[in-house]
Amino acid sequence: MTETLQDTINHSYDDQANDDDAQDGHGMDAVESALWRAEVLPPTPPQPDCSVLDVGAGTGVFSSLWLEWGAAVTCLEPSEKMLEKARDNLYGKVSFVLGDTHDPALFPDGGFDLIVSRQVACYFRDPLLVFQNWQRWLKPGGQIVLVDGLWFREGWSDDHLVDQLPLSCLQTRATIGYLLEKSGFQILENKWLDQVNAYLSGVGQSKSPRYKIVAKRVE
Ligand SMILES: C[S@@+](CC[C@H](N)C(=O)[O-])C[C@H]1O[C@@H](n2cnc3c(N)ncnc32)[C@H](O)[C@@H]1O
Repeated sequence: MTETLQDTINHSYDDQANDDDAQDGHGMDAVESALWRAEVLPPTPPQPDCSVLDVGAGTGVFSSLWLEWGAAVTCLEPSEKMLEKARDNLYGKVSFVLGDTHDPALFPDGGFDLIVSRQVACYFRDPLLVFQNWQRWLKPGGQIVLVDGLWFREGWSDDHLVDQLPLSCLQTRATIGYLLEKSGFQILENKWLDQVNAYLSGVGQSKSPRYKIVAKRVE
């Protein structure tokens, strides 16, 4: 059977699952974790008993930030090996779903208060389909917190992927914000993560500044 584009992505994450937390910009020590919490986690959840879906959860590093709220967190991840790592790290604390966020049938409508995703949009094969799914999976008034970075072509090991993934090396925060608006979200924030970026460049980890977009499902 021919390997699909998503199979290629999943196999590459299967291969790197054991080392992923050691990669630049993936795992985080206590100092970095505090900066991410300060810049990304709103001080209070949008709803009490907040249900959070972390799309492309990887080994669960980003998912764990949302546990601070006492939120019910679901980790969605298409690479079996990455999901195994997330299970090792967060067993008993979150739920785990193996799947691709392009699949509309993964979750029922209106199940989540918040959808979060860090450094995954660059892998979306069809961003409009993904944002349409997120609209449906969110409760009315639900929000998203999406983090991505300005990635460079040279940073990807596979040119073939770059030319098939429409958000793989954006050089502006505008594109994802624009696509979210066109998909029925109201943008609440679209800003650089100044403290995280200063930390990452200070420790020589990344030349790709990270930004966050917070958006609300329009009724
Ligand atoms: C750069 S890693 C980020 C992992 C995690 N979000 C973090 O911040 O540590 C990208 C993740 O996106 C996942 N991913 C790729 N394509 C995806 C898709 N179509 N649906 C959901 N997740 C996907 C990959 O398997 C990988 O775990």
